[in-house]
Amino acid sequence: MCGIVGYTGHRRAVNVVMDGLRRLEYRGYDSAGVALLDAGELVVEKRAGKLANLTEVLSGHSGLAGSTGIGHTRWATHGAPTDRNAHPHLGADGTLAVIHNGIIENFAVLRRELETGGVTFISETDTECVAHLLGQAYRAVSAERSDRLAEAMRRVCQRLDGAFTLLVVHSDQPDLVVGARRNSPLVAGRGDGENFLASDVSAFIEYTREAVELGQDQVIEVTPQAIVITDFFGAPAVGTDYHVDWDSAAAEKGGYDFFMLKEIAEQPQAVADTLRGRLTDTGEVVLDDMHMSPRQLRDIDKVFVIGCGTAYNAGLIAKYAIEHWTRIPVEVELASEFRYRDPVLGPNTLTIVISQSGETMDTIMALRHASEQKAPVLAICNTIGSTIPRESDAVLYTHAGPEVAVASTKAFLTQVTAVYLVGLYLAQARGVLFDDEIGDIVAALRKAPEAIAKVLTLMDPVRRLAESLRDADQVLFLGRHVGYPVALEGALKLKELAYMHAEGFAAGELKHGPISLIEEGTVVVVTVPSPRGRSVLHDKIVSNIQEVRARGARTVVIAEEGDDAVVPYADELIRVPHVATLLAPLVTTVPLQVLACGIAAARGNDVDQPRNLAKSVTVE
Ligand code: G6P
Repeated sequence: MCGIVGYTGHRRAVNVVMDGLRRLEYRGYDSAGVALLDAGELVVEKRAGKLANLTEVLSGHSGLAGSTGIGHTRWATHGAPTDRNAHPHLGADGTLAVIHNGIIENFAVLRRELETGGVTFISETDTECVAHLLGQAYRAVSAERSDRLAEAMRRVCQRLDGAFTLLVVHSDQPDLVVGARRNSPLVAGRGDGENFLASDVSAFIEYTREAVELGQDQVIEVTPQAIVITDFFGAPAVGTDYHVDWDSAAAEKGGYDFFMLKEIAEQPQAVADTLRGRLTDTGEVVLDDMHMSPRQLRDIDKVFVIGCGTAYNAGLIAKYAIEHWTRIPVEVELASEFRYRDPVLGPNTLTIVISQSGETMDTIMALRHASEQKAPVLAICNTIGSTIPRESDAVLYTHAGPEVAVASTKAFLTQVTAVYLVGLYLAQARGVLFDDEIGDIVAALRKAPEAIAKVLTLMDPVRRLAESLRDADQVLFLGRHVGYPVALEGALKLKELAYMHAEGFAAGELKHGPISLIEEGTVVVVTVPSPRGRSVLHDKIVSNIQEVRARGARTVVIAEEGDDAVVPYADELIRVPHVATLLAPLVTTVPLQVLACGIAAARGNDVDQPRNLAKSVTVE
């Protein structure tokens, strides 16, 4: 949700900033803008729409040789996505420019105060308040102070409520970018004679892999030679230095038409990376990262799993696995609902928060609520050093590598893998499963990357099917047991990407209402559990397929190789390899990802940047 980049050093800032914005465009693409310091002049350009519009404008500029600048790509909150509302916003008679990610919650009060004082606003944004306040604060700070712009930023931040990452440049300060953060992401990159600021490291990974994580409520001054951090009151602070262990190639499409296709293809490796070092040769699960004593693990009497969107769907799978293996009751909750319904939790409630980005505001607020109730919080997260892991008691990183496509794929499979690890670890620590039972599941998990790789070789029929569904009105998804969250995820992917009506249902629930949606030709996608597992599930879903077919549905059946019982009822049959019943989502989700991607592409939609969405939603 809004991408932010800042640079100061020895390169042409316009190139570095635009490269960074290209990598951050997944965060929002309603508009884009830059502010560049060029020979003592502040040059600002901004355009509604995708980054390409801004690129075109900049190509008409001659010069732009300056080596300091900031850039922004926007997901609109306050104010429509117009040129005027695009960032940067100017203050102090056009001598300073500000970009912002987040929401200033007290902006109405601030705006009224500024307007009463004679300020005229030209946009509808909350950010413009900050620009004007910064202009006033800058004038109020002594010109003698070397940290004049940073001090102005500190004074303004003290007055702001809400979530914000802010960057500012001033025409009087040619080699300086000042940033601030509260509740929204900001990382710095350390280069040689150059330094960077960005919403995430992918913006500068091409130039440096040495990053600095900022804490909450901090202000950072970046010059080509130095990075100086303080809190909002000027007390010195230090960031946490870390090395990024992937390179810029990981954030490129690498020959695929879309990031989404590349990320789907990366899933075997991503799941292997989640498992790496966490399973022993003797069939045990090692999760030192959980940081819980044997006593704490034994005392857990309830588990909450919390997330949004795809991460929530991964949480639903956690419920099936963790309850089955540990016999601990598990509740799964949408992060945006959790704290508002006064959930019952305490020191023995393990709260698992799942988030790819680690920056989703709904999830952050839910985790804070759990922490306030003294519940231990375990984060399952992909983004190192992001807010959610930083504020949690422990973190299990999924190590999926950067996920750029807005619709989540490899993050989902790795989150599901991580919840399996947590479930098995709890079962092991509490002694509720025999060692050989755990050993069997561990062996099956080890083979999961291979099974996912196999599914990927079976996707030709899915691609053909996607072409043929280009003009479908709606697609329904059915599943039972862990196939139910898979159905929800399949429907979510299709809604996100194809802008098509899609719903996921528990197959058994269909007859209690949704079956009335089915008419002649309605496409119903059904994931079928293994006939080798609890075959009662299998038999029941075969009946459900017959029920929808009898009412005219066109059935797309996803079933394991060798399951012949489904053949007579499948208008389209998609095969997946056998995996254990609880692990089935690791393979059955893949065709649904490929299907949604294929239908979206066939409809001419932007697969990686679907309309109205943002990859990480940093407002509630
Ligand atoms: C947004 C994205 C979804 C994602 C959800 C949770 O809504 O569009 O794809 O699943 O946020 O994101 P997180 O980063 O917390 O996993």
